[in-house]
Amino acid sequence: MHYVNPGHTHIVHGGESKDMTLMMTSLCAIILDSNARTLRGFQSLIEREWILGGHPFGERCSHSAYATGGGEEAPVFVCFLNCVFQMMHAYPTAFEFTDHFLINIFEHSYASEFGTFLYDSERDRHHSQLRKRTVSLWSYVNHPEILSTFMNPLYVPIAQPLWPVISGVIHVLWQRLFLRWNLTWDEADESAAIAAESAEKVKKLQSQLRTLLNQQHSGGHSIPSEEITNLKIDG
Ligand SMILES: *[C@@H]1O[C@H](CO)[C@@H](O)[C@H](O)[C@H]1NC(C)=O
Repeated sequence: MHYVNPGHTHIVHGGESKDMTLMMTSLCAIILDSNARTLRGFQSLIEREWILGGHPFGERCSHSAYATGGGEEAPVFVCFLNCVFQMMHAYPTAFEFTDHFLINIFEHSYASEFGTFLYDSERDRHHSQLRKRTVSLWSYVNHPEILSTFMNPLYVPIAQPLWPVISGVIHVLWQRLFLRWNLTWDEADESAAIAAESAEKVKKLQSQLRTLLNQQHSGGHSIPSEEITNLKIDG
């Protein structure tokens, strides 16, 4: 971990350092490091803290289609994703991605056509030549047209730490994950699409306004007010 105090490295060690320890270090990263709240940064966080960190995905997610099973199942990783979801709920603009991204990762951790979450350790992955024989989930996720489906239209990077709100009252049930088959999502999807469209329009307007203000600044003259009232978005 390099977040707490730049220049100082902190060692966090639990019993076997493969479950709660990883949860702790990952959540510290989410709280302290704004890069961990981006699409790419979150991928490296999972790769570094969970996969290289040695969370035994094979054992813990052993209801997955490919796991061997052995009584060591535990929803530790889902618990981490849920914590991230709670942070997103408390800070809706601070994450570059939406909970669709978390749900996608959740699904692949249990059953996947990619090799990313297979096996329990780096040693096992090395012995089975996993990286030669399978494709990584991230290579799929990072296709621009796929990546864009996970983007949070409301994202505004926040460089400061995101202090989690620990009062139980505001914790919510992650319905989209836990009640996904009980509820219908058409209406929610529609509202999300409208919100995304509006956010896009606002961004375009802001950039037009910035251009105008820059012109004014460099030209040393004021913008005729009709130019500002004429700012409009096509469509
Ligand atoms: C969701 O649906 C399942 C299957 O129909 C049912 O067993 C479960 O009780 C439902 N859960 C809730 C919270 O409604």
